[in-house]
Amino acid sequence: MPSIHETIRTRRTIHDYAPVPVPEEAIQRALEAAHCAPCHKTTWPWRFTRVGPRAREALFALNVRLKGAKAPLDPRQAAKLREKMMDPGALIVASQVVSADPERLREDYAAVACAIQNFSLSLTADGVGSKWGTGGITRHAEAYALLGIDPAVEQIVGFLWVGQPSRPHPAPVRPPLSAHVRTTD
Ligand SMILES: Cc1cc2nc3c(=O)[nH]c(=O)nc-3n(C[C@H](O)[C@H](O)[C@H](O)COP(=O)(O)O)c2cc1C
Repeated sequence: MPSIHETIRTRRTIHDYAPVPVPEEAIQRALEAAHCAPCHKTTWPWRFTRVGPRAREALFALNVRLKGAKAPLDPRQAAKLREKMMDPGALIVASQVVSADPERLREDYAAVACAIQNFSLSLTADGVGSKWGTGGITRHAEAYALLGIDPAVEQIVGFLWVGQPSRPHPAPVRPPLSAHVRTTD
């Protein structure tokens, strides 16, 4: 098992997946890691929706419709979109219980982000890739409906794609840490 530091350093956003299943133990461990995230006032604001094959096909069909709204997708574009949405071994939707209090909403969003990072680090440690996606479909009313998420109760924070990378994903070039750290007297 890699160290926590190694896991943090080597976690990558994975864009291209091999069409193979993900071991259930890895998903379960990742969900448990997510559930260990901190949350202010113990609001436990994260919810996870495990998306089954029928809902996933429906999400794919919705995305074809959304992306083809201006000009219909050509077969190559449609095939690429199918790979993107159907190849990852699993799709889990992370959502946040909403609040009328803007401060609570902000802090709970931060807590859900911590949960998503724990989720992704746990998968990395288990040799499984993931991606936090926030494209247009994640905000679409039809996506909420087919996932059974009531937007008056929860907001979707991300689609978490999970699976085995089909190619190496190099790390982005990061600016030096010194440009992001200041020290006061
Ligand atoms: C809030 C949030 C939203 C993101 N949404 C997307 C997305 O919609 N599509 C995507 O390809 N990557 C998305 N990412 C992943 C970032 O693009 C990725 O973290 C960044 O390119 C750095 O790569 P790394 O994760 O491998 O370090 C998102 C990341 C965060 C934190």
